[in-house]
Parts: sequence; structure tokens; C-alpha cells
Amino acid sequence: ELRPIIAQWRTAGERIAFVPTMGNLHAGHLELVRIARERGGCVAVSIFVNPLQFGPGEDFDTYPRTLDTDREKLAESGAADLIFAPGSSEIYPPGFATAMHVDGPALGLESDFRPHFFGGVAIIGAKLLIATLPDIAMFGEKDYQQLLVIRRMAADLGLPIEIAGGPILREDDGLAMSSRNAYLDAEERKVAGQLNLVLKAAIARLRKGDAIREVEVTAETALKAAGFDTVDYVAVRDAETLTTIEDLARPARILAAAKIGKTRLIDNMAV
Ligand code: PAF
Repeated sequence: ELRPIIAQWRTAGERIAFVPTMGNLHAGHLELVRIARERGGCVAVSIFVNPLQFGPGEDFDTYPRTLDTDREKLAESGAADLIFAPGSSEIYPPGFATAMHVDGPALGLESDFRPHFFGGVAIIGAKLLIATLPDIAMFGEKDYQQLLVIRRMAADLGLPIEIAGGPILREDDGLAMSSRNAYLDAEERKVAGQLNLVLKAAIARLRKGDAIREVEVTAETALKAAGFDTVDYVAVRDAETLTTIEDLARPARILAAAKIGKTRLIDNMAV
């Protein structure tokens, strides 16, 4: 059903933009769709909760599935022409036996804590990009490592698609918008707002010339003191490769992942 519509757009000479999502759309997703409309002519949005990017014990079963309200929000936005919401067996038919492995930007950070994640993201990313063959695909910068992994994968496979990042939208206290914020109770929600504040304080120290390793450690301590139960990492990395760096000679990014109760939050900012 998807392909003939895309083919019609192509024949009409339209530029095609694509926004892949797992649904439960918030303002951050809608901003990606808005930018997609600005940068492409016709906009396709996918909604698919991808089982392959969830590990055992993660929230695949409880991940919010809100197709009807997602459809309403996209209709209201006036910026989407098509929603592709395939069933699981359409994406992974019986006998599906292909896996993907990405190194480079996929190494470390999220992979250290969610080793299944980028394999699952790469395969669904490749399948969706091949199914829609857009001119441009938008990925939110909130999942910064994911954006770089998809960009690497698309380049390595020779997919002629621009992989573009869209800005992180934040709540009033700075918490990055995420479907998983809905898991937080009122107390946890207060703590969650500290993640961004700690990153901002770390950036201020880095710009003053404080040593990178020292700033990372202090930020981890500050997150624990703020009420996070586990801090997976606070890391200052090269913004293009995510390799470790010793100074700020090239563009850098600070990335963090931490847990409050059962909810794992990630955030990142340009240094
Ligand atoms: O960021 C997401 O919502 C997902 O990881 C994506 C890119 C749609 C792949 O399932």
C-alpha cells in the first residue's frame, strides 16, 4: 500500500520527507514532522514499536501505543500526508533471519547498557528507509547516538537519503520531551528536571577549561545527589564520531543516561 503512494509522489516530482517514530507522539515528534514538511514536499510518518530494539526486561509490552490520538495529532498538524503503521508480522514475517551490526558511533555509551539496541534500530531504520526511499529522513537529536548510527548505516549501505537531526524540545524545567517521561510519578518528575541542569552546569565548567574527566565525574555525582538511582554515564565525546576526547578542539557533545526508579532517561547537549 505504501509503495504506490510514494511512487505517485515521485512521478509528480515531489520531494519526499520521512519521519520514523514509535508513536505516542509529543511536541518533539510534531516538530520533526513540521521541519520535514518545510524541507520536503510530501511527508510520510511511520508508527511502529520495534520489538528488536527492546531487550529482555525492558518496556516493549508497556510502551504506550496510542495510534488514534497520534493520527489526530498528525491530522491537526497539517504537516503529514501519510501514516505508515505496519503490523509486526509485516515488518518481521515468519522466518525473518537478517540481523545488522554497526560499529563506529554505535560503540559504547548506550551499547554498554542496551547491547541489543543499535542492532534493532539499524534493521528497522534500514527497512523503513528502503520502504519509503525518501529524499530526507528526520531523527530527533534527543537520541543523538541513534542519529549518528543511522547516518553511518545509511552511508555504509549507500542509501541516497539525507539523514537529518531535529532539535530536542524541552519542558519548562529543561527535561527533554520523551514518551518515557509518562512513566515518572510526581516525585520522580521533579528529579528528572535535574538531568538537563546538571548537563548545563557541566558545559559551563568545560567552557571555563575544567578537565573533561573531572567534569564527567562531578556531573555523575551531582545526578546521584539530585535523586537519580543509577547513573549509566555522563560522557563528553566528539560530536561527529562519539569517540573520547581530551580537549574541546573539535565540536563536542555531552551525553548522559540515568535511571530514576524503573525509568531510564537520556539527554545530550552541544558543548
Ligand atoms: O527513536 C525512535 O522512535 C526509534 O528508535 C525509531 C528511530 C523510530 C526506530 O524504531
